Amino acid sequence: MRILLGVSGGVAAYKAALLLRILREQGHQVRVLPTAAALRFVGAPTWEALSGEPVTSEVFDDVPHVPHVALGQGADLVVVAPATADLLARAATGRADDLLTSALLTARCPVVMAPAMHTEMWEHPATRANVATLRARGVLVIDPDSGRLTGADTGPGRLPEPEVIARVALEAVAPPARRRDLEGRTVVVSAGGTREPIDPVRFITNRSSGRQGVELARAARDRGARVVLVAADLAGDVETDLAADATGIERVDVETTVALRDAVRAAATAADVVVMAAAVSDFRPAHVGGAKIKKVPGQAPAPIELVENPDILAELARERLRPGQRVVGFAAETGDAAGDVLTHGRAKARRKGADLLVINAVGAGLGFGTPVNDVTIVDADGETLVTAAGTKREVADAVWDAVGALLAS
Ligand code: CTP
Repeated sequence: MRILLGVSGGVAAYKAALLLRILREQGHQVRVLPTAAALRFVGAPTWEALSGEPVTSEVFDDVPHVPHVALGQGADLVVVAPATADLLARAATGRADDLLTSALLTARCPVVMAPAMHTEMWEHPATRANVATLRARGVLVIDPDSGRLTGADTGPGRLPEPEVIARVALEAVAPPARRRDLEGRTVVVSAGGTREPIDPVRFITNRSSGRQGVELARAARDRGARVVLVAADLAGDVETDLAADATGIERVDVETTVALRDAVRAAATAADVVVMAAAVSDFRPAHVGGAKIKKVPGQAPAPIELVENPDILAELARERLRPGQRVVGFAAETGDAAGDVLTHGRAKARRKGADLLVINAVGAGLGFGTPVNDVTIVDADGETLVTAAGTKREVADAVWDAVGALLAS
């Protein structure tokens, strides 16, 4: 495949060298198009040596070959990594002031961009609007990872790992053949974070975005299943993303844990598999006032009394609402003085009685709201069956692979 690798001017440009190696090792012909700013971070000799191709960034270089038109026209895939805020802005407005942006205008192949920048720049309305414009035009813009940025600061804006970018980019050209191993099956997936009202305007919730659950629902649909998605609160970007591709997914919206329990149980009576990916509140306020709680000057706030919610997963595992039903849970753990993530996860697997428990580390830029995930799938005894890392879609497929093996056994 002929790939154009656009590199714009950010510190993460060095990671593009690793991406280039991965693409070359897979047998692709890669032409690197660095912007002038990118060349201040990583020089042309590096790109030329790794790609085996000449490197130019200006439209006035190599004019007889008209590269600003020919390169884009001849490409099977364009990947821009890192894509800076400036590059996104220039691409969104259709500028053609260097070789990379010119090539972007002439390319008719899939275009994948992996932005990397400081959190403030990524979250700025101008950048958000540019990303939305590019996505609306069919550009696949990968959400940046959260984590340590160039300085001491952390937050969304990190370039995803080169392996992930390579996989997402190559799949944009040739989506992997989907297995239809869930044909004729019905699955229920819960997703998102529950909300437990305190009064008419306040509630207790958690950091779940619902992305992993949504990807589980889509993956099951693509594998042939009838899918019921019981959705608690989903993050705004997950809602937008779901709106773009929810075909074949029956959605039931719920707010509280008790409502989620009712909806999941109702759907589960017809289900071969139930996956509890929702982040469920363990407790709810005992009394929910009909009026807003007011502060009284000079008076200490009234404590909020909590009562325990039903453990939906444990109930489902115990009762099996349909004969032969398989039940899958998630365990989002941080690890603490009493044990690490896996120790807690394995103990939870034994406690809950689900057939499979998907354990992942969360907190400090991990898990919540990120496009990637890193999980260990264990059985009811807490024994590791498989580990999976990658996009949440890839992790979803790994979960269905494990479920498929169970259904077949
Ligand atoms: N879960 C559930 N009902 C609850 C709490 C959790 O069904 N009341 C499910 C979640 O959907 C998830 C799994 O149980 O699939 C593990 O959730 P988690 O919050 O990690 O487990 P808890 O039992 O709440 O354990 P702890 O909070 O003590 O870690």
